Amino acid sequence: MRRGMKKLFIIANWKSYKTSLEAKEWLQELTNLQFPVSSEKEVVVCVPFTLLPILKEYTDEATLSVKIGAEDVSPFEEGADTGEVNAEQVKEFADYAIIGHSERRKYFNEDDALLTQKVQMALQFQLTPIFCVQDENTFIPEGVTLVAYEPIFAIGSGTPDTPENAEKVIKTIKLKNPSVQYVLYGGSVKPENINTFTTSPSIDGALVGGASLEAEKFVALIKNA
Ligand code: 13P
Repeated sequence: MRRGMKKLFIIANWKSYKTSLEAKEWLQELTNLQFPVSSEKEVVVCVPFTLLPILKEYTDEATLSVKIGAEDVSPFEEGADTGEVNAEQVKEFADYAIIGHSERRKYFNEDDALLTQKVQMALQFQLTPIFCVQDENTFIPEGVTLVAYEPIFAIGSGTPDTPENAEKVIKTIKLKNPSVQYVLYGGSVKPENINTFTTSPSIDGALVGGASLEAEKFVALIKNA
């Protein structure tokens, strides 16, 4: 089933992987593979803070058609917050920021109040939050327009949610949060299964971890979406 002109997001989340050398190799490979360009598919690569300048430089020079995202952002403006990277700093290199990934909720105890502050900071500096939720009941802060539904059991497990259930949850998220424009599915998305999600009427794309780390697989994901 073709989706007409509806926009699809294919978003990579590298998590805590890749050195600068590995990032450069990935970018070179992506260029060599004749990365397909389409105005219907927005491709975003979310990377560790240390790799943001490399992606920016590379995409500026090689005119690679990918947008750049961070994987997190500080809940504060500039200030004495050792170890934090604030939204103004991220915006120098990126247009998106993942906020509220389940790994941050679980390992760093990030709660609704903190995530709301992060969303506010991102919006203040024109970063689009990619706000992650675990199900249709997860709180979504005001101003969020792009959401990723990532059920915990499906993350890194090799067992994705069924497209039928993802469709149902995503439809409910949209009904409950009318200002949310796009909702993606994430969790064990692979080149072989991405189109079972992206052809579902309410699903607007995919947030991909493991399968985004190899350039060849990432290109296959974009082609197959
Ligand atoms: P995997 O694609 O590795 O299951 O990870 C999903 C995810 O957490 C993306 O943010």
